[in-house]
Amino acid sequence: MFKYQDHYFKKAQEQWFKARSAFKLEEIQDKFHIFDKTTRTILDIWCAPWSWIQYAVAQSQENKIQDYKIIWFDILDIKVKLPNVFTYKQDISDQAKVKEILEQNWVEKIDLIQSDMAPFTIWVKDIDAIRSFGLIEQTLRIYDQYLKSDGKFVIKLFMWPWFDQFVLDMKKKYGGTKIKLFKPQSSRKESKEIFIIKI
Ligand SMILES: C[S@@+](CC[C@H](N)C(=O)[O-])C[C@H]1O[C@@H](n2cnc3c(N)ncnc32)[C@H](O)[C@@H]1O
Repeated sequence: MFKYQDHYFKKAQEQWFKARSAFKLEEIQDKFHIFDKTTRTILDIWCAPWSWIQYAVAQSQENKIQDYKIIWFDILDIKVKLPNVFTYKQDISDQAKVKEILEQNWVEKIDLIQSDMAPFTIWVKDIDAIRSFGLIEQTLRIYDQYLKSDGKFVIKLFMWPWFDQFVLDMKKKYGGTKIKLFKPQSSRKESKEIFIIKI
């Protein structure tokens, strides 16, 4: 598989991060402070190869939170043993199963939801865009049910045709001042990804 070997790729290797994506989350943290001393329950819904989990664990430790809990889902079967981290091979679109797993883990409300999605593509631009956007929309039910009223989230989006409407809807739902858009330096210039953050 082709790997984009720039400064961030090398930095990720040096710092033992599984992927350069960790630096995107780091930049988001530096600007919006999504992790703090109250961030105990974290859900990551597309997590492999888990660099965002590495970053979340480091933040929990830095904030001296002993009883943090991180639940992660990915369609890939990843076996990792980390304290307070619970991993599930699970398609995020199966909402009933997702709910069941959260209940098994005694999760009632979530402080932070991380969504760095990259669904499997068939390389037909329009179809891939519709599928990806549909998946993101489905996951919003999890936010409705589980995110604390003052909870935070990070969602990676792409500049799809529905992007502006999606941002507008999020602003209506959560309040205009709570929703921020951000393109980190570590995100490749040519990538159409952009992050929507609820602070
Ligand atoms: C960009 S990667 C996430 C990178 C991660 N944030 C990190 O820092 O390492 C996106 C992940 O979404 C997963 N994925 C794609 N479709 C999925 C689905 N329907 N349910 C759960 N995970 C899915 C892929 O397997 C992939 O590992």
